[in-house]
Amino acid sequence: MSKLHVVDHPLIAHKLSIMRNKKTGSKDFRELLNEIAMLMGYELTRDLPLEEITIETPICKTKAYTISGKKLAIVPILRAGIGMVDGLLDLVPVAKVGHIGLYRDPETHLPVTYYCKLPADIDQRIVILVDPMLATGGSASDALTKLKEHGCKHIKFMCLVAAPEGVAKVQEDHPDVDIYTAALDDCLNDHAYIVPGLGDAGDRIFGTI
Ligand code: PRP
Ligand code: URA
Repeated sequence: MSKLHVVDHPLIAHKLSIMRNKKTGSKDFRELLNEIAMLMGYELTRDLPLEEITIETPICKTKAYTISGKKLAIVPILRAGIGMVDGLLDLVPVAKVGHIGLYRDPETHLPVTYYCKLPADIDQRIVILVDPMLATGGSASDALTKLKEHGCKHIKFMCLVAAPEGVAKVQEDHPDVDIYTAALDDCLNDHAYIVPGLGDAGDRIFGTI
């Protein structure tokens, strides 16, 4: 069973509360989303393997540590996942970025795939799939399946707000993928929106409300 990590930090809680407020405009919403992505990225990269190297400081030779092994790829689910990419790239500037385009059908709430462009060596990388909202879990689950079809074996999923229904779906479909979220909310409403949530993340990021 995959692990659910609720990344619990006062700065994240504070910033998320501002994002939830319906009076917060797109500029602040975008900035806060990237700031939280960077803070969560710190936790998500905690288990990256290190290797020992020898370097020379201006004073003497010494042992030092550098990240070893697999490199990272960040894959946002379009559109809203784009809002988390820059924050993660601030932390890991050499990561490659792929894109998976999905939208939820407004009637069925089921995901519809319309785009997929991934780095050629994606199967050799640790992949961080990002999307601010994990509601029914359909979009995240389909995106994870797509990544696995491209050979990805080491994947983490990062969101901002998760519903219990979405967590259960991803854990059932992808028991090998850990989920990182800033908050676990109460439930979904009749339109499959997260309650209390923050509304439609894509619309709030891009000002398309
Ligand atoms: C939102 C969100 C997720 C999806 C979550 O995208 O960004 O991708 O819904 O819902 P689910 O867990 O029930 O699948 P949306 O379909 O609104 O597309 P957008 O990002 O282009 O606005
Ligand atoms: N997509 C969103 O943007 N928000 C929700 O609450 C659910 C799906």
